[in-house]
Amino acid sequence: MNLKDTYLNEAEMLKQVPAFEGSKNVGWKSPSNIALIKYWGKRNDQLPQNPSLSFTLKNSFTETSVEYSLKKDSESQISFSFEGSEKTDFHYRIIKFTQSLYHYLPFLQQLDLKIESLNSFPHSSGIASSASAMSALALCYTSIQFDLFGTPDSKEKFLEKASFLSRLGSGSAARSVFGNFVLWGKSEAIPGSTDEAGIPMHFISKNGDLTLSDAILITSSDKKKVGSSMGHSQMEGHPWAEMRYEQARENISKLITSIQAGNDVNIINIIEKEALNLHALMMTSAKGFSLLNDNTWKIIDEIRNFRNKKKIFVAFTLDAGPNVHLIYRQQDAAIIKDWIQKELVKYCENGYWIDDEIGSGPEKLN
Ligand code: DP6
Repeated sequence: MNLKDTYLNEAEMLKQVPAFEGSKNVGWKSPSNIALIKYWGKRNDQLPQNPSLSFTLKNSFTETSVEYSLKKDSESQISFSFEGSEKTDFHYRIIKFTQSLYHYLPFLQQLDLKIESLNSFPHSSGIASSASAMSALALCYTSIQFDLFGTPDSKEKFLEKASFLSRLGSGSAARSVFGNFVLWGKSEAIPGSTDEAGIPMHFISKNGDLTLSDAILITSSDKKKVGSSMGHSQMEGHPWAEMRYEQARENISKLITSIQAGNDVNIINIIEKEALNLHALMMTSAKGFSLLNDNTWKIIDEIRNFRNKKKIFVAFTLDAGPNVHLIYRQQDAAIIKDWIQKELVKYCENGYWIDDEIGSGPEKLN
């Protein structure tokens, strides 16, 4: 049975909340992630058109706590505050997400929820926060299920459900529930992979020898002119769509093999092509838009030159925006950070960049 039907069946057991006094609290810290093979294009129910592979970050995270109590009125009340303020753009999305989970978590309708959230990175850094925010909240809801009903009854099942629920909030959030390398989406090459949830892939880097860092170079903190959902929708009817999905499936297998073989040249080539293809798809879509700016291209040039000169593992990737994720090995941190300070901060808005690295996944706060 697929996860959707499993959870819909399970929901029958989650309707009657056992009585409790006062309010209880759960909290999770959940990180963002950076995709090396991109998710771009989705079908019904937030199912991806192709598998994607990311690594989870350490320093870019959301902390969310949910205080819950038995509802006082006929309608359950959901309040949301972000870094202390109540009226944020995100409020509506959080409410909609919560209500969309009622099929799977019917107990939520019997609770009043007070949700508080904060990000480790500045609100205006241009960093997409939906992966960390949605996964943190999904983890909280899965914890409430556990506290009230004692299920899911193993760590694996807990994380699988949290990943499934995260996906419904934001596709890339499905990957944030696990640490290290994570795959989301059915890949013939990986047994157990599914479009419905992420699965951990730490084993692809044997002995953990591909310990990556991510310097996120902020070239603009402006609000994106085209949001992810609109961007994904541009893949519908895109003349390259089928070719792109096939390419991503192949790139997953090639990247895994290259990581396992320690083939740096191939790793770099695959992840940079993925980033450029993502933006080429945007430019050639019906809407025909580009999210990149001059400084994005200048940094990309600098990275290519530095790599040629120093023969060092350094690569770029991009998400749906103009900021450059500079990927390097942790062992080269000193030389890379020195170069960033000397040559790259001048392309960053107010000299701002985020020093991040591969992380071990979410942590329960209470
Ligand atoms: C380019 O997960 O933000 O970062 O499912 O609509 O919330 P929604 O989209 P989102 O898309 C992420 C797109 C990407 C690539 C990736 O992270 O795989």
